[in-house]
Amino acid sequence: RMMIEIMGINVMEDSLKEKLGVRRVIIVPGNSDDLPWVKEELGRAAIQSMKACVSDHTTIAVTGGTTMSAVAGMLTPDFASPDMLFVPARGGIGEDVQNQANVICATMAQKSGARHRVLYVPDQVSREVYESIMKEPSIKEVMALITSASIVLHGIGDAATMAKRRNTSEEDLRTILDGEAVGEAFGYYFDVHGKIVHKVKTIGLQLKDLASIPNVFAVAGGASKANAIQSYFKGMPQSSSTLITDEGAAKELLKGS
Ligand code: BG6
Repeated sequence: RMMIEIMGINVMEDSLKEKLGVRRVIIVPGNSDDLPWVKEELGRAAIQSMKACVSDHTTIAVTGGTTMSAVAGMLTPDFASPDMLFVPARGGIGEDVQNQANVICATMAQKSGARHRVLYVPDQVSREVYESIMKEPSIKEVMALITSASIVLHGIGDAATMAKRRNTSEEDLRTILDGEAVGEAFGYYFDVHGKIVHKVKTIGLQLKDLASIPNVFAVAGGASKANAIQSYFKGMPQSSSTLITDEGAAKELLKGS
């Protein structure tokens, strides 16, 4: 019985890899919509698969969210060397503090014994303020670290859930809903065809930068995120991406294929 279940997951991993066009898919048992600890398993699996790509001076750019927070919780000192660095992938995108990339990077560094940098950018700023922030030497330095990262670690969210969770303005909310966005990652909202219908204005990693990042790890599970996962991967060139997901999302994604 156990063997069959293991084989079942392997077959699903291969089918999903083909379907999404990604480098690799890892599926953990369970559905994180129903069982909160499945997120911890996603975290554990993400750390395990990243291990093959880290060396002493690796820089990892990280997004926010509850899944990333679960990854952070699973890190241990054997993961990193003191010279490894965690940096937030993008500046403020309206998340509550516990879900912010800055906080998650700090936890990751603390738990693994590595270093981290912060990227403090106010959420809603005028063009003038934004432009002067971009000229700050400390910001420029973190920006350079982000774009030179060899690993990007990120979550994928359901568009409506993310828009509600963040302090999204009425106007942006309308753009997201009118554009029929279903998925979100890095502050970009995608429709079912993978078209970007809205983008949160902030500094840091832009989607086009992903093309030059050697290893991208997307961690997202739960049956409710299936459409979001699909829309994101439709919109992106995915040859350097590994998806770490759960059975709940995988089964939903593979329905009808
Ligand atoms: C956000 C990331 O912080 O977390 C998003 O920037 C992602 O890209 C989201 O969609 C996912 O959140 P959660 O809580 O579902 O892991």
